[in-house]
Amino acid sequence: MRVTFAAMHLPRLCAAVLTLAASLPAAAQNLADHTYTTTDIEAGARVYIADCALCHGANGDGVDGVDLRRGRFRTVRSDDDVRRVVTQGVAGSRMPSFDLSAAELNGIVAYIRAGFDPSGVAVRVGDPARGQAIFEGQGRCVGCHRVNGVGGRRLAPDLGEIGIARTAAALQRTILDPNAALLPINRPIRAVTRGGETVRGRRLNEDTYTVQLIDSEGQLRSLAKADLREYEVTTTATMRPTSLSADQVADVIGYLLTLRGIS
Ligand code: HEC
Ligand code: HEC
Repeated sequence: MRVTFAAMHLPRLCAAVLTLAASLPAAAQNLADHTYTTTDIEAGARVYIADCALCHGANGDGVDGVDLRRGRFRTVRSDDDVRRVVTQGVAGSRMPSFDLSAAELNGIVAYIRAGFDPSGVAVRVGDPARGQAIFEGQGRCVGCHRVNGVGGRRLAPDLGEIGIARTAAALQRTILDPNAALLPINRPIRAVTRGGETVRGRRLNEDTYTVQLIDSEGQLRSLAKADLREYEVTTTATMRPTSLSADQVADVIGYLLTLRGIS
């Protein structure tokens, strides 16, 4: 009975999936290339409980200065760093070396990146040095964004402290689908004053009476709404979906997570 039921409905399901795929823009990437699977995360949970929880604790904060669930490490940055620490241990500390299979290592990385949440999203985090080179080169990010005083700042937010403000998942969303990730506050605006001046820029803040923005000349401005003849907020992002590969996006995320202001 059950087999017949499933067989009858299968063609309709397939058609629905195909329609969905066809409606995605050509530039959209397969999210699966950018994340670990639920199977990885679940495998990692088993390894963690068996091999790691004894010292790191069920919540991941059992070792001083390390919070595995929240992604706070001493030296680790990328996923490969996690693999290296686990296979080699940390000399001169209680962190032992483990002889794990590649699948188990993937699992442990996935479990950590998912924040210990079996239903969470485990974003791949690549190498920060490679990510910086991509950010400044092929990715053309510095053309619009400023980091530690380098790069444009006219219409794009300064990313110098983005590693404190955003999670890996949020960064990935912006890079893959800027429209979906657009924050209401960052939106491009266009205003015309009573004096006839047209002001374009990126909104920083807005209340009932005023709007603050960085204008297209890079100047911080505050406009009184009572002085405006027209005021429009754009709902589409200025930033375009990336054409970088999944590995390159992972590296760029690794780099962005290291941006925590000049200390
Ligand atoms: C016997 C105790 C012990 C066990 C078991 C253990 N760890 Fe550790 N781990 C430590 C200690 C102590 C440190 C801090 C090392 C240091 O001094 O830098 C550490 C550090 C780490 C770090 C951070 C390294 C850095 O420099 O940022 C990671 C990641 C890590 N452990 C993962 C694991 C994983 C995954 C497992 C299980 C496969 C595991 N640990 C099992 C004791 C342990
Ligand atoms: C054409 C200019 C432009 C380029 C090129 C560009 N961005 Fe953006 N980016 C923006 C703008 C503008 C915003 C603000 C949202 C919007 O309007 O799209 C933004 C938003 C962001 C944010 C979100 C900031 C936040 O507060 O959450 C991140 C992260 C980001 N960009 C990273 C990148 C990376 C990485 C690259 C290179 C791969 C890149 N951007 C390339 C213009 C650009």
